[in-house]
Amino acid sequence: MAETPAHRTLADQAREAAVEAALGALDLDDKTRLLSGQDAWTLPALPAIGLKSLVMSDGPIGVRGVRWSADDPSVALPSPTALAATWDPDLARRAGILLAQEARRKGVHVLLAPTVNMHRSPLGGRHFEAYSEDPYLTGRIGAGYVTGVQSGGVGTTVKHFVANDAETDRFTVNNKVGQRALRELYLAPFEAIVENAHPWGIMTAYNSVNGTTMTEHHHLVNEVLRGEWGFDGFNVSDWTAARTTTACIEGGLDVAMPGPQTVYGAALARAVRSGEVAEAEVDEAVRNVLRLAARVGILEGAEPAVTELPEPVDGEALAQEIARRSFVLVRNENDALPLRPGKVALIGSAARDARVLGGGSATVFPAHVVSPLEGLTAALPDGALTYTVGADPNTELAVADQGFELRAVCRDADGNVIGTAQVPNGQIQWIGDDLPDGVTHDRLHTVELTGTFTPRETGPHTFGVKGLGAFTLTIDGTTHYDDVQRPAGDDPFQAFFGAPVPRARPELTAGEPVDVSLTHVIDLPEDLAMGGVSFALAHQEPQRDAGELIAEAVEAARDADTAVVVVATTERVESEGFDRIDLRLPGRQDDLVRAVAAANPHTVVVVNAGSPVELPWREEVAAVLLTWFPGQEGGAALADVLTGAYEPGGRLPTTWGSLADAPVTQVVPTDGELPYTEDVFIGHRAWDKHGRTPAYPFGHGLGYTDWTYESVEVEGSSVRVRLRNSGERPGREVVQVYLAPSEPDPERPARRLAGFAGVEAAPGERVEVIVELPRRAFEIWDEMSASWSFVKGSYEIQVGHSITDRRLTAAINV
Ligand code: BGC
Repeated sequence: MAETPAHRTLADQAREAAVEAALGALDLDDKTRLLSGQDAWTLPALPAIGLKSLVMSDGPIGVRGVRWSADDPSVALPSPTALAATWDPDLARRAGILLAQEARRKGVHVLLAPTVNMHRSPLGGRHFEAYSEDPYLTGRIGAGYVTGVQSGGVGTTVKHFVANDAETDRFTVNNKVGQRALRELYLAPFEAIVENAHPWGIMTAYNSVNGTTMTEHHHLVNEVLRGEWGFDGFNVSDWTAARTTTACIEGGLDVAMPGPQTVYGAALARAVRSGEVAEAEVDEAVRNVLRLAARVGILEGAEPAVTELPEPVDGEALAQEIARRSFVLVRNENDALPLRPGKVALIGSAARDARVLGGGSATVFPAHVVSPLEGLTAALPDGALTYTVGADPNTELAVADQGFELRAVCRDADGNVIGTAQVPNGQIQWIGDDLPDGVTHDRLHTVELTGTFTPRETGPHTFGVKGLGAFTLTIDGTTHYDDVQRPAGDDPFQAFFGAPVPRARPELTAGEPVDVSLTHVIDLPEDLAMGGVSFALAHQEPQRDAGELIAEAVEAARDADTAVVVVATTERVESEGFDRIDLRLPGRQDDLVRAVAAANPHTVVVVNAGSPVELPWREEVAAVLLTWFPGQEGGAALADVLTGAYEPGGRLPTTWGSLADAPVTQVVPTDGELPYTEDVFIGHRAWDKHGRTPAYPFGHGLGYTDWTYESVEVEGSSVRVRLRNSGERPGREVVQVYLAPSEPDPERPARRLAGFAGVEAAPGERVEVIVELPRRAFEIWDEMSASWSFVKGSYEIQVGHSITDRRLTAAINV
């Protein structure tokens, strides 16, 4: 039996006894079966020991459930970058409570979240899905989130352990990371979350670190995570990341997902019988899974970790609150915001078709979305708002959505219908055996996406096909494509993440529905590791003359008191599965902003992007508000903030600057290797080291009031800060505490974020806050002794509003 960690309570001990009893009742085949997914999202039930099937689901902004379908919608919260921008671990905890509530509603026991990889480079494709470039902030937000989810009796898998910071060749890349960087940056959030939130799970990444793939990393999993940190949860592979039997079990991997074909199950039982693997190793993994099952309440005879559930949460209200608390006002010249009374010209394609979440496994299907257009229409007086598109960033085909009413029809080889399913949009994503009711792989021959499309615009509409294999595309009775799409690379997820190919360009009339049909003959390439069915119908609106669109917007802006331009990235820019190649806004959006700003001095730009984009016009506009991927209530939250009903509460969790200045831009491996040559200098540490000035620094963000920092005192490890709301409105300030070694040391960052706290005050009110400095803020990882080393000496405590807006200092000697 595993050593009993000191923090185990009596209830933990009782649960451990139940786990041991259950383990003792299992034979080798059942044990190894339990370590292998039975399908895309679940582990098998073992009724003989009273164990129900464990269900897992993505994560992190909602709970999709076991189907890629709109049938069972989920609340969609703002992107993880947004959550981090609140700098509020308690709000992250409340988000977690809501997600646990959603999980329970859907019968999900483990949420595949949070993502706590680092914003190493702004080019990372899943940047929107991680929190920050700062390990301390990441750890605090992640710990809040995990605490919240687990307080609702639902498990988490902190992911992706470790150094999964970019997407290019993510299945095979060997990230070469120095020990200091590994400890101080990439492992640090995992360590903090293990220490402060005791997660019940971890997900090991696809990539290798220093030559060993993470699902087999004995040192980092068994010695560091479990040994040094005392992690007692389960370790699940990222989907298809487990590639070997013996090396995985010896590397501390408990569960191989997805099933049914994995390297565990029967293969693991065989390895034990042949003497290659000790049964004790299997037992240890089973123990970890049974402990998880006990915690989430699906092992008979074991008391769940949570017996009293938190109060129910209103998901829509919380989504709206997090969104407005996350919006970062980076520029507000002459108090351009809140909006002055008068006419508002709302401009931008994303103002109407909001981008509320990022692409890939983080996708969930909300029951509704409030766009900026809807939010502002509801909030402003009748007749105050006009809308023009201005520019269409969808310069490429995207999954068919707006105007499409589609369902999937499954047929056998004789053409008989064997099942149907509602689909949320043009994407079919049936992973493993997750097929519509009544449909099995052996009978399924074709899937037809069929329904209608009602165009919003008259003109040539482009239709495309994403996926591999044979397709027939018919629109309004005409067959435009009937051929085979072949693979271009070896990524098993290419059918999902690859680019759609244009296949038809019919002339259509606004408001006149046409029949559409895309039929796919199922003929899986043998190496498609996930199995299942994945393809999409893609669409692009007629491309109107870009100059005309801009001219219309300029006209509207001229007639208004304020112009609000919403600019955005697209699903082809920010998604799991690929990295970005630049940080530019797609299409003619930059030209649009410049033209509108020239026509109206009160131009407010709303940036709807999950991660940094370049804002080359930022000095030409009155205000810039970053709204991330704001989740389903984003438009309502935007109206709250623009009208001044609430102040925007966010502070940058990551530096925003141009690609040319960005310190770390290498995300493409050479010969399979990606060296992290920048060592411990990423994010603000690197901007500072290189003496470069970003567009907006780490920690920056304006509210609608002002703050005067009055005093800072240090007593032991406590930093006491007094400040006053010196503006005219109530507000919230994030007091940031940085620690700078007094003697510059080229090996160490000039300063690090050592603590922060949110305070609220009415106009004129004074508040005091105490921030505790963690010991780790004074430590560096010493490679020679392979241990943390406390660096004695004198430091400056720097307190203020952002990493560059430091208002007060105090000296400290340690
Ligand atoms: C992603 C994980 C996700 C899993 C299941 C993987 O491709 O990297 O973050 O949890 O799929 O959807």
